[in-house]
Amino acid sequence: MVEQSVEIAPATGKLGILLVGLGAVSTTFVAGVEAVRKGTAKPIGSLTQMGTIRLGKRTEHRSPLIKDFVPLASLDDVVFGAWDIFTDSAYEAALHAGVLEKGLVEELREQLDSLKPMPAVFSHNYVKRLNGTNIKEGANKMELAEQLMADIAKFKADKGCDRLVIVWAASTEIYLEPSEIHQSIEAFEKALYDNDERIAPSMIYAYAAIKSGVPFANGAPNLTVDIPALTRLAEQNGVPICGKDFKTGQTLMKTILAPGLKARMLGLDGWYSTNILGNRDGEVLDDPENFKTKEESKLSVLETILQPDQHPDLYGQFSHVVRINYYPPRGDNKEGWDNIDIFGWLGYKMQIKIDFLCRDSILAAPLVLDLALFMDLAQRAGLKGVQEWLSFYFKAPQTAEGLYPEHDIFIQLKKLKNTLRYLMGEELITHLGREYYSE
Ligand SMILES: NC(=O)c1ccc[n+]([C@@H]2O[C@H](COP(=O)([O-])OP(=O)(O)OC[C@H]3O[C@@H](n4cnc5c(N)ncnc54)[C@H](O)[C@@H]3O)[C@@H](O)[C@H]2O)c1
Repeated sequence: MVEQSVEIAPATGKLGILLVGLGAVSTTFVAGVEAVRKGTAKPIGSLTQMGTIRLGKRTEHRSPLIKDFVPLASLDDVVFGAWDIFTDSAYEAALHAGVLEKGLVEELREQLDSLKPMPAVFSHNYVKRLNGTNIKEGANKMELAEQLMADIAKFKADKGCDRLVIVWAASTEIYLEPSEIHQSIEAFEKALYDNDERIAPSMIYAYAAIKSGVPFANGAPNLTVDIPALTRLAEQNGVPICGKDFKTGQTLMKTILAPGLKARMLGLDGWYSTNILGNRDGEVLDDPENFKTKEESKLSVLETILQPDQHPDLYGQFSHVVRINYYPPRGDNKEGWDNIDIFGWLGYKMQIKIDFLCRDSILAAPLVLDLALFMDLAQRAGLKGVQEWLSFYFKAPQTAEGLYPEHDIFIQLKKLKNTLRYLMGEELITHLGREYYSE
């Protein structure tokens, strides 16, 4: 055992989890936590709740649960808040989302009905398929940010929270390129006053969170907090941030499979991915401008895992296509097909087909929980700015400027667990293992 290197404040009192967007993912997350608290469900899919971590040598047989190893907030101490453009409570929104069976939603009705969203910062220009009425008004975007900061402070006081975290689980916004107003805090703040259209609503939430000292995780592919102005502000204010885009479904499979193909030096001619999806997310992504945001996030994965520059004979030429088709009958129960054209010894061609009948929000909900608890831990451990160790949860992980992200899920998991070992003063695990064999 190495001496603990980082001082971590204890997880005392209540942790408020504020959700931007009270749709399919958020309501599935809240309902799941409530069911776990009632003892009627297990937190399946959550690394913080069900994962273990090996400590020391294999001969020591020390593998505690992660939640017993690091001081995480207990589920019993979590309280929820939300913003949405619709006034539906979490009960009504869960019924509308149709992810969970009606019987389960009814069982949790009391808890879900008590979660009513605050008015949102929203503009139709960024999500054209949605029209809501629960929307804030302000003279400019800075005024809207101030209203969000007031919401945050009021929620904290009303609920008696010790600490807060904010998770963006709202709709995907249209594609935005970083521009000069995103480069510095001063330019960004001026643009807020000027109502600059390059500042999307998600950036206003992120700004309000950071100014309020609240960690912010971005579950959608929007640029949001992945701009120098906000990463610097987060560092300056000592606030952890992370993103982008929950890694679920097809991209999860891709980042499990692609490292395996590369490990065996098998070549790739092409990877064609298509989906049918019928929930509100699918409807929003049916708009080409919003789909572009998602497409960029999904496409980035293979290049970085396969490193075509280093392996031109294997990965120099592959085509990668990603499609999402809005198909209402399926609701949240997405079907994703992958056709993977690979080649092996002497260039002989082979194909892999995946047909994943997944449930998007069932896969995403435990990620919201883990991110909220780990971001709270990060803040109590004095970590600030981009939390790359949480890239395990994202399709397009945020990194320091100029650094390429790690997409390989196994590297990401190792990074995450080693970060926990580091925080707790345990030896990092390299898997070298020579000590088991030396004289
Ligand atoms: N489910 C998954 O597996 C998954 C994976 C990766 C990313 N995501 C992303 O997570 C987000 C949520 O997904 P979902 O399936 O819950 O979608 P959803 O459409 O069911 O819910 C999104 C909610 O956000 C609200 N909203 C939109 N703009 C808002 C704003 N500015 N402020 C407050 N609320 C706003 C909408 O009214 C809606 O209720 C989407 O961006 C989606 O792309 C989901």
